[in-house]
Amino acid sequence: MDRANRVVLEILEIMRQMIRPGATTAQLNAVAEEELAKRGAKSPFKGYAPMGLPPYPAVVCTSVNDVIVHGIPNRERLREGDIVGIDFGAILEGFVGDGAITVAVGEVSEEAGKLIRTTKECLDLAIAEMKPGNRLGDIGAAVQEHAEANGFHVIRNFVGHGIGRRMHEEPQVHNFGARGRGLELKEGMVLAVEPMVCTIGDKLQQRLGKSRDGMVQDVRTDKDGWTARTLDGALAAHFEHSIAITADGPRVLGLQ
Ligand code: MF3
Ligand code: CO
Repeated sequence: MDRANRVVLEILEIMRQMIRPGATTAQLNAVAEEELAKRGAKSPFKGYAPMGLPPYPAVVCTSVNDVIVHGIPNRERLREGDIVGIDFGAILEGFVGDGAITVAVGEVSEEAGKLIRTTKECLDLAIAEMKPGNRLGDIGAAVQEHAEANGFHVIRNFVGHGIGRRMHEEPQVHNFGARGRGLELKEGMVLAVEPMVCTIGDKLQQRLGKSRDGMVQDVRTDKDGWTARTLDGALAAHFEHSIAITADGPRVLGLQ
């Protein structure tokens, strides 16, 4: 799984370096597909069709601005000030790796920069909780506390997941929760942790106002069946790593 995730992180880095005003997400997808083949790896995304959805048509998800996750690469040009989530997976030697980053296109607004930084910090804080004896709720709480302390909302309608020979295994990994609650983390588990965080626009604000715990419907999906957006055009960011729980603590797979 370390090797599968190394492929993921290498190719994410190649895509990150391609992101600039004028580039297209279709170009990222084409390069990622070639780079997978060069490494003898396959895509767990392309052709993926859960629950009657149309088969996902690309090897990478590219989620621009108000798209939270599962954006489909296209030939529109990225513009200065956009933010783009790139979520990418690889299958190597029978194991799946999964990771995501969010990247600024040129100079972005102060708010967009803060959203990207905060979401990355949410992932890092979650990873720090991943030691044997801690619980899933410790991961969720770490994400939720940091996002909310910065004035942002944690998307409730998508989750992280166990990962191994399949991309999506048990358990679901919520990005919210209560410390000390939920499944106990044990040595040998591998989880894909993936906080999705957004700024709070009018429509979300309205729904949150009527909710005690923030558990609102916070996603709308385009007619393509995949592209998941914020309710009100607010910006969203997403980071993901696949992490093994070891006796020595968390090990982010694929690093170096
Ligand atoms: N990488 C996503 C996840 O973290 C899944 C992508 S959906 C797909 O679960 F259709 F692109 F595969
Ligand atoms: Co994932």
